[in-house]
Amino acid sequence: MLTDNCVACHGENGQSLGPAIPNLGGMSQTYLLGAMLAFKYEDSNKLMAAIKSDSDFKDVNPLIRNSTVMTTIAKGYTVSEIKAIANYFSDQKLFTAPQDVNLSLASDGRKLHEKYCVSCHKNNGKSSNVDAGVLVGQWKPYFLWTMSDYLDGSREMPRAMEVLVNDMIATSGVESLQQLANYYASATP
Ligand code: HEC
Ligand code: HEC
Repeated sequence: MLTDNCVACHGENGQSLGPAIPNLGGMSQTYLLGAMLAFKYEDSNKLMAAIKSDSDFKDVNPLIRNSTVMTTIAKGYTVSEIKAIANYFSDQKLFTAPQDVNLSLASDGRKLHEKYCVSCHKNNGKSSNVDAGVLVGQWKPYFLWTMSDYLDGSREMPRAMEVLVNDMIATSGVESLQQLANYYASATP
């Protein structure tokens, strides 16, 4: 019942309906908790205080996020409701969004992924050892907007990821982002 409000945008079972909205199916429970708590608290001191006060969050390691709609939505839920919601979506299957792919860009993207991203985004971005979300099957526009938020500093980027992303763009140019977007859109976990 709690996820009824999410379905209008993120779809049944976390299969998102619009290309600017991320699929949630297949994300880990700790990643979902981190994202929702970051949206709810916004301020990093409040966020860290909330994480420390609850032993269920001992493995949750969120970064501050910018948002168009989610900060407003997340504030409408209590912490225990957020736990139930994260539990539900982490149980849903990964969804590969149906979209056009340029296979030549995707082939270049695969090489970039293997050089710069795979150390954290394993299994084509399906799983990870550092709770890095889901990249495979994700909508291309959501991926590109997220990367642009990271690059202009409006979303906090994990330090070690930042080094590799900057290195990639310096070496291969901004077109590497389109190549990666096409790769993740076409890859399978
Ligand atoms: C009006 C559409 C809308 C609704 C309703 C909505 N979302 Fe979102 N969601 C978004 C958008 C757009 C983003 C990207 C961040 C932003 O711009 O706010 C997002 C991002 C997220 C993310 C971050 C995913 C990632 O890849 O890091 C999570 C988790 C999430 N939403 C969970 C939920 C949950 C749980 C609900 C229901 C309680 C919900 N959303 C309701 C549109 C929506
Ligand atoms: C050192 C580990 C590391 C490397 C290397 C790395 N990332 Fe990440 N990435 C992360 C972590 C951790 C997160 C989750 C951040 C959060 O919770 O806000 C993340 C999140 C993301 C997201 C947001 C996912 C979402 O659903 O909103 C995208 C997109 C992304 N990474 C793309 C990349 C790309 C492309 C590369 C290679 C050029 C890369 N990352 C390399 C650790 C890494």
